[in-house]
Amino acid sequence: MKRQFIKTADGSTSIYLEEMDEHYHSKHGAIVESNHIFIKNGLLSKSGVNEIAVFEVGMGTGLNVMTTIKAAQEHELIVNYHAVEAFPIIEEELSFINFSELLSIEEGLFRKIHSAPWEKPAQLMPNFKLTKYQTKLNELVLKTEQFDVIYFDAFAPEKQGEMWSEEIFIKMFDSLKHGGSLVTYCVKGVIRRRLQAVGFTVEKLKGPEGGKREMCRAWKI
Ligand SMILES: C[S@@+](CC[C@H](N)C(=O)[O-])C[C@H]1O[C@@H](n2cnc3c(N)ncnc32)[C@H](O)[C@@H]1O
Repeated sequence: MKRQFIKTADGSTSIYLEEMDEHYHSKHGAIVESNHIFIKNGLLSKSGVNEIAVFEVGMGTGLNVMTTIKAAQEHELIVNYHAVEAFPIIEEELSFINFSELLSIEEGLFRKIHSAPWEKPAQLMPNFKLTKYQTKLNELVLKTEQFDVIYFDAFAPEKQGEMWSEEIFIKMFDSLKHGGSLVTYCVKGVIRRRLQAVGFTVEKLKGPEGGKREMCRAWKI
């Protein structure tokens, strides 16, 4: 599918897929959305913990990796980050993306995120390890009780329903440690009920500034 690079309201880049009529991030601000949903309400939701294992569904542009690196520096966290991506962006597309400049992170580190090997851990910073998997989420084998936080950043359920199935949510639930959480921008009733049906305790939280009114956090208690 052809990827069109666009600017969102906070000046940060995103991608629009015309064929699917779907954006990678909120048009109201990709960085604002990432910081609110995945960092503030995901990564930083467990107080008193400084070593965190993260799993991201749909690494895409690498924005959530970048905002996590920044938060890990600011909050002195050690992060073991795993991400799955079935359709990675290609090297020629990286120059269209402006996250390094806006987050004040070296461009070289952004490039390393994308050039890191697949299926192998890469120590990108002393406190940040990245393991990427190039496969479809339903084909990825995960260990049980592996992660503290899941960034569930799939395309919307009405565009890619199979990513939001009960089977996928069981897999997410099993891969989380007790006390871990899954965060997502999607608050649809049918999705929240499906998360509850597999065992999650689900809450709605305020959404990012200027964007959707609400977001969802699902706990494995
Ligand atoms: C909403 S975008 C994610 C945006 C990304 N987190 C970012 O910050 O750029 C959804 C991502 O899921 C990926 N994807 C689509 N189907 C997938 C699948 N079956 N398994 C894994 N990733 C998939 C897409 O290629 C896309 O990068």
